[in-house]
Amino acid sequence: MTAPNLETTVAALLSPGKGILAADESFPTIEKRFKALAIPSTAESRLAYREMLFTTPGLGGVISGVILFDETIRQQSGGVSIPEMLTRQGIIPGIKVDKGTTALPGFVDEKITQGLDGLRDRLAEYRELGARFTKWRAVIAIGERLPTVACIGANARTLALFAALSQEAGLVPIVEPEVLMDGNHTLDRCEDVTSATLQAVFAALFEHRVVLETMLLKTGMVLPGKDCPRQAEAGEVAEATVRCLRRRVPGAVPGIVFLSGGQSDVTATERLNAICAVGGTPWTLSFSFGRALQDAALKTWVGTPANVAAAQAALHHRAACNRLALTGRYSAQAELGTPAR
Ligand code: 13P
Repeated sequence: MTAPNLETTVAALLSPGKGILAADESFPTIEKRFKALAIPSTAESRLAYREMLFTTPGLGGVISGVILFDETIRQQSGGVSIPEMLTRQGIIPGIKVDKGTTALPGFVDEKITQGLDGLRDRLAEYRELGARFTKWRAVIAIGERLPTVACIGANARTLALFAALSQEAGLVPIVEPEVLMDGNHTLDRCEDVTSATLQAVFAALFEHRVVLETMLLKTGMVLPGKDCPRQAEAGEVAEATVRCLRRRVPGAVPGIVFLSGGQSDVTATERLNAICAVGGTPWTLSFSFGRALQDAALKTWVGTPANVAAAQAALHHRAACNRLALTGRYSAQAELGTPAR
């Protein structure tokens, strides 16, 4: 069987009514999530958790792609590789290819994402293992004097090199510059920083000859910092987010998928709904949540096989609520039942 081309993968990832499940937590991140629930983090427990997520009945009806971590893409379930197990359900396997963040030398409290060394070879291997798309996350912190132009610039160039290498390898890059929610900054300040970040990222993508038609942007919503005394209504978030994206993201980009970034699952769905309700945007909008898709499922599962079905129901419910949000027709009522599959 020949591998699908980049356009086909993009179209499938942006299938109407479906989103992307980010299940690519690194070892320290999954350990932190498990520890909070007293679940030991071992190769077996991580596999059991991800098998629970990926065997959710009907998952292929609401999820178009799953972002995997390096360990998971190499694991098997019942003699079948995880990428193959997803593919059989019509779900496209993807892979996080960055190697996390490290301190940006000379810049206090700023980070640069690592992982470019050897990336060409790793991409070829991931493609062989079944991946069809990739993800690289850069983080931009907001503070009194942050972010610096240097931090935004270094991360933008790194994202562009990652994207160019992915396309060269026949993999669709998901370019993720995340402006963090940490801090007490206002909604306006987040809009300014997101705007400056996207401007630098698209300038770098252009310089590095990345084909915009065969990439996806993963971004945060424009939000006040989580310690800002004045939190925003969903409508204000939607207005600021859509305005910022319209001003900075070329219409040639086929899709923008949102990360959840630490918002509660219901809040993320409400805001996604408000954003999608605006309408008339040149790109397809969808979700690529990690925590906001998994939280209820993980808390229900807690490492106990007897809880698998209930945890899967929680994941499906959350994904189905987000599916409804993509149409702008989500309401609190949807939380009470199972939105239509
Ligand atoms: P969250 O939705 O939990 O922010 O995770 C999305 C993601 O992929 C971060 O890289």
